[in-house]
Amino acid sequence: MDVFEAIRTRLTVREFLPDAVPDEVLDRIVEAARLAPSSRNLQPWHFVVVTDSATLSQIGAIASSGRFVGNAPAAVAVAMDGADRPDLDAGRAIQQMELMAWSEGLGTCFVGLRDETQNAEIKALLGIPAEFQLITVLPFGYRQRVTVGAKGRKNRKPLSEVAHRERFGEPYA
Ligand SMILES: Cc1cc2nc3c(=O)[nH]c(=O)nc-3n(C[C@H](O)[C@H](O)[C@H](O)COP(=O)(O)O)c2cc1C
Repeated sequence: MDVFEAIRTRLTVREFLPDAVPDEVLDRIVEAARLAPSSRNLQPWHFVVVTDSATLSQIGAIASSGRFVGNAPAAVAVAMDGADRPDLDAGRAIQQMELMAWSEGLGTCFVGLRDETQNAEIKALLGIPAEFQLITVLPFGYRQRVTVGAKGRKNRKPLSEVAHRERFGEPYA
């Protein structure tokens, strides 16, 4: 799948087939994260890959906006260690994992973990140091057949609302 096709068709997936994700596929997903760019190339990230079903169930039980993690065959927690701009750096790595996974027939969903208690509980469960910032736990699994224009649909503002030519306010097209 070429890059634009992956970007065009990717959708958030919250229901997964029960099939295990092969190690080599998980390796490519984590490698996609490792290769992401970061501010000053500090690479201030750690990726905790979880495939133990009991741990995944516990994460799903804790994360109120990500119950579906409990039904995924794998997940990757993204924890940042002292970054200047942790959200931006993490976002680059997360998007690379999402697109890599999509191109392999898998899906994922960003789980926000904004509740401080839930966030701390998941860090403790995974042994992530308390001073690290846990950004998300991304569940991964093979997706049901989801295609843009059929069951799934991209819901985005039109280009005319968000793109400008030369100067803000000048129509792009
Ligand atoms: C920063 C961020 C946080 C999100 N948090 C959650 C979440 O906690 N739970 C959830 O179900 N979806 C979450 N999402 C998924 C968004 O709802 C989804 O990406 C958006 O509706 C667009 O849908 P699409 O990804 O299918 O195009 C989050 C997405 C982002 C980028």
